[in-house]
Amino acid sequence: MAGTRGEFSSRLGFILAASGSAVGLGNIWGFPTQAASNGGAAFLLMYLLMAFMLAYPALMAELIIGRHAKANIVTALRQVSGNGLTRFIGSLTGFAGIITASLILAFYGIVAGWMIAFAAAPMASTIGAEGVASWLTGFGNERNLVFMLIFMLMTSLIISGGVRNGIEKWSSRLMPVLLIILVGLIGYVLTLPGAMEGVKVYLLPDFGRSFNFQLIVNALGQAFFSLSLGVGTMLIYGSYISKKENIASLGRAITLIDIGIAVLAGMLIIPAMYVAQHNGVEIFDAGGKLIAEDTLIFTVLPALFDTMGGTGVVIGFSFFVLMTIAALTSSISMLEAPVSYVNEVHGLSRRASSFLVSGIIAVISVLIVFNFGDLFGLVINLTTRYAQPLLGLMLCLFAGWIWHRNQVLEEIKAGFEQAEQSLFWRIWPVYIRYVCPLAILTVFGQKVLG
Ligand code: PHE
Repeated sequence: MAGTRGEFSSRLGFILAASGSAVGLGNIWGFPTQAASNGGAAFLLMYLLMAFMLAYPALMAELIIGRHAKANIVTALRQVSGNGLTRFIGSLTGFAGIITASLILAFYGIVAGWMIAFAAAPMASTIGAEGVASWLTGFGNERNLVFMLIFMLMTSLIISGGVRNGIEKWSSRLMPVLLIILVGLIGYVLTLPGAMEGVKVYLLPDFGRSFNFQLIVNALGQAFFSLSLGVGTMLIYGSYISKKENIASLGRAITLIDIGIAVLAGMLIIPAMYVAQHNGVEIFDAGGKLIAEDTLIFTVLPALFDTMGGTGVVIGFSFFVLMTIAALTSSISMLEAPVSYVNEVHGLSRRASSFLVSGIIAVISVLIVFNFGDLFGLVINLTTRYAQPLLGLMLCLFAGWIWHRNQVLEEIKAGFEQAEQSLFWRIWPVYIRYVCPLAILTVFGQKVLG
């Protein structure tokens, strides 16, 4: 397939696509709720540290390997390996990455489907179709199935368009819309009574309560998920970057955008919760903890929109459109990981690969929908708590130990001639060899031991 490989048309094209991958439900939902239940700015601070010190170096490992190999994760890891054994480990790691990306998409697609349903619900109510509205917002297999399938179809249609006409085109359209909706919603919510209390909770660090090891574990996990690490999505996006670009600065831009949007989203979600409380909605659970996770998104916030009358319809609709867009630009990057493999290694056309792979993933989603209690949480845990950090570790090992250091430098120097004298080259190799692997192992050990 060489020669017909896609490439992002410009620096901006890559930045929009990769930040589209990074900015997802993890930023707009995961980060704010984690911050809310982990001591506000104490979590924010730890998250910033983890993102810059561990996630950014790991992101760079993926981008550099990807751009060098110009291939999917399996081929790429084999290519940077020196001998038969490491090539074999490369294949295994690559496959594990592709499978993990597919499984993440399998549950992500279900959740994203709920976002579409919740965006449609206020419109149904407005035209008086109350039955439809309650079907859309009620938890049921049919609803879960229908909207998961709609979302998967959208994802595979975009991916079947290829790098420029699919990924880049749609990320460039959707990311600005996402930013506009986000900023607009923040601007509005901050004017409402109660919002400032939320801002305080969010921005004032409660170090005494929350500065502990578990906080670090959560912050690292959140940073890895949010930067889409370990599963080959950043690697494949890296493989579509032109050799002319300075890859270290691109990676920095993605990290900054990802963190920036997460922090901004916190300025929406946490104040919105306190506005909800002001309007009489319960925001603490029986144990006195701030309600988080799905109850926050699908119960507390809709209850808030309900108290706002006509404005609430518009706000609720915009909020769930925002969530849908965030999910879509991330899910296309998840699908690209396995699709690029099937396309490049098995020679199936991009179109056929997209529909084949997304079809298989949709079947897994169907299994999850029908065995929701047993599978949903399990798949999330397996992929995001275990597989992602371990795969991130493997990618650091490939970039730091297995791949030849001179070749790594050569790759960075393409597009960044002074790389050897840069701060980046003085720090990053040490990080990727020692700091990242040890830190990930520590965190992972802590998770496994409970
Ligand atoms: N980064 C995405 C988010 O924050 C999730 C993601 C994980 C995307 C893994 C691609 C790969 O929602």
